[in-house]
Amino acid sequence: MKKREINIGILGLGTVGQGVLKVLQENREFIEQKIYPKKIILKKIADKDKSKVLPDKGLYKIFTDSAEQVINDPEIDIIVETIGGFEPARSLIAQALKSGKHVVTANKEVIAQAGYEILSLAQKNKVHFLFESSVASGIPIIGVLSHSLTSYKPREIIGILNGTTNYILTRMSEDGSDYEEALKEAQEKGYAEADPSKDIDGFDTFNKIFILSAIAFRAKINLDNIYYEGIRNISKLDIEYARELGYTIKLLALAKNKGEELDIRVHPALIPQRHTLANVGGAYNGILVRGDGFGDLIFSGPGAGALPAGGMIVSDIIEIIRNFDSYNNNYNYFEVKKVKDFKETHSSYYLRIRVKDRPGVLAEIAGSFAQKEVSFLSVIQKGEAGEVVDIVFLTHLAKEGNVQEALKKVACLDCVVKICNAIRVVDI
Ligand SMILES: NC(=O)c1ccc[n+]([C@@H]2O[C@H](COP(=O)([O-])OP(=O)(O)OC[C@H]3O[C@@H](n4cnc5c(N)ncnc54)[C@H](OP(=O)(O)O)[C@@H]3O)[C@@H](O)[C@H]2O)c1
Repeated sequence: MKKREINIGILGLGTVGQGVLKVLQENREFIEQKIYPKKIILKKIADKDKSKVLPDKGLYKIFTDSAEQVINDPEIDIIVETIGGFEPARSLIAQALKSGKHVVTANKEVIAQAGYEILSLAQKNKVHFLFESSVASGIPIIGVLSHSLTSYKPREIIGILNGTTNYILTRMSEDGSDYEEALKEAQEKGYAEADPSKDIDGFDTFNKIFILSAIAFRAKINLDNIYYEGIRNISKLDIEYARELGYTIKLLALAKNKGEELDIRVHPALIPQRHTLANVGGAYNGILVRGDGFGDLIFSGPGAGALPAGGMIVSDIIEIIRNFDSYNNNYNYFEVKKVKDFKETHSSYYLRIRVKDRPGVLAEIAGSFAQKEVSFLSVIQKGEAGEVVDIVFLTHLAKEGNVQEALKKVACLDCVVKICNAIRVVDI
């Protein structure tokens, strides 16, 4: 007889784990319509913190501080991993899959660093491993790429995938806050963690674009070859000057399928103000998927939070239960693909260079760039004439390696006080 009661166990009762509990409790009827006649039974919950206050008295009798106890319970069918971080989460997931349990996780670090081996472990044991909430929580982008866009190849993904950095850049842009003020506000509002470096330095976005690229392009990629850079160097002056030029600054994840190679990278970028992605503000995420046949698809929504992430985890649980009696492998094909050497990629640049205010400066700077085949689209002097002035340059498309070499040379010119910033321009 087919199993009617599907037992689940949750590991880690933090923000997302509690979100899962809430969604299961509040939407029980709506959820059960989709899995009828099956039912979800919450069998065990583990959290390291023994003194955790649980939202419902009845939960104390299924609560433990041992994740092992949940994994070793032979009656549990589906494990929800919401501990986060790489270890012990990776080992616990592997252990669960090996013992024949399906696993749902929100953990982008584990998927980015060990996703291929975990997927093959799941395949070997004929169990499901789903991770919709790991990228852009509230936007079901993994489902779109793996279930919906299966007849035309996506060619390109452009994403704003980190709510914390998007919140900071939005505050800097809308209120004229400087970086430190905006970060403090993000921390006070709970958008940024006490140690925000994984978000600020682009690591979180890097993990997410790796996951999206692997799925969209069905590619086996070496994570270490993906370039990433964060937003620490963005100043409110750059935001202001970018705006005057018709651009907004966002932390962008870019992934382009170039046939043999993939161009994947994460860095701040000037994007045209009129584009929909430029208007994805606050802690929201935005994703553009471009492909033959479907053109440009744009998604936006909450990129974090207990309910958006918890909701997507429960949707994954529903998906598993709907396929409970017949296993099918959703991720059956990955082709080894090279990531294009970052130095070989091409971008236009916004450059802000502080110079001594004297004749001939422009010619000197332009000459150094020209030697490296970097030419200018526009040049604007900023501020009043004085001892020093800032000059803002927009370049034509140029090879990344050449721009970096030219910048090193220019920084050594006697007329140059400082390279204040160099930000790529992406004309979406
Ligand atoms: N927060 C979001 O909006 C969001 C959105 C999408 C995806 N995610 C992902 O979801 C995962 C969880 O994030 P979160 O924000 O919910 O983190 P969190 O609030 O820190 O929750 C993690 C919980 O797991 C507990 N824990 C740690 N190690 C454990 C262990 N060995 N056994 C049992 N419990 C353990 C922690 O206890 P202690 O606090 O005592 O260490 C904490 O209660 C991460 O992978 C994150 O990237 C988060």
